Amino acid sequence: MDFKGRHIISIKQFTREELDYILQVANKMEKYYQTSSDLLRGKILATLFFEPSTRTRLSFTSAMYKLGGQVISLSNPEMSSISKGENLSDTISVVQYYADVIVLRHKLEGSAKLMSEISQVPIISGGSGTKEHPTQAMLDLLTIHNEMNGKLDGLKVALCGDLKYGRTVKSLAYALSHYNIEINFVSPSSLRMRNEVISDLKNLNVSINEYADLSEIINDMDVVYATRIQKERFPDPADYAKVKGSYRITVDMLDNVKENLIIMHPLPRVEEIEYEVDKTKHARYFKQSYYGVILRMALLALVLGVSL
Ligand code: CP
Repeated sequence: MDFKGRHIISIKQFTREELDYILQVANKMEKYYQTSSDLLRGKILATLFFEPSTRTRLSFTSAMYKLGGQVISLSNPEMSSISKGENLSDTISVVQYYADVIVLRHKLEGSAKLMSEISQVPIISGGSGTKEHPTQAMLDLLTIHNEMNGKLDGLKVALCGDLKYGRTVKSLAYALSHYNIEINFVSPSSLRMRNEVISDLKNLNVSINEYADLSEIINDMDVVYATRIQKERFPDPADYAKVKGSYRITVDMLDNVKENLIIMHPLPRVEEIEYEVDKTKHARYFKQSYYGVILRMALLALVLGVSL
């Protein structure tokens, strides 16, 4: 399977076979995670982040260093020529001469796709608007696959919290749609999954349900994926105040869950998961960070055409 030179803009670009292959390559990266390597020696990654990030930017950076490559970074737009009025397409037109691959995070819907039409080097979306976070969906898929002993088909998954503004849950729902997985959306009515996503999933014959209360279904789930209420994306702060603190997972809720239930979260966490849950055997939200590095090592190697 050849990924050399491909842009990674949307999870919808990928077939099940391609996703399975990416997970396989990610798992092969484990040895380089432990020992480092020279696979990408001489290659440069540019990380251009116009929204805050801890995990995505640092895990791509870590991934590049572990493969022997180098990283240049624009993480504070105020300190770049964007603050003088330069537009994003001019920035990309320049950075493509500095780097072999670019990871871009921007708040505008479709920004990564637009930039991929300009760039001569692969653009990988590090999160675009409220709809796309493809590499997060891949690392989430890898987490579920590995933590469920290689099983994806037949699982029951609850995606909870801010389904309207959260981009990770939308990308993950499309990734899960390739497998025989029951998807349960759990959210306040004001933050329910967008109709276009529900309609796409129904057209793909995905088994989906919607709930307002996680307690109703948690005991029947294999995976619970919590998300943060995206305060920064609410047009009216009063609407944020109404739902703030809802959908909190507490230890008490775990009394009768399945033995091997895993609880995930793309992070950052604010109030969605009680700290006591961290100590339970169900918590996987910090281990997702490990999967994020090996998954991004795989993507960098693949789009840069390194054979494994
Ligand atoms: N999960 C995620 O995208 O985290 P960051 O915003 O910290 O990159």
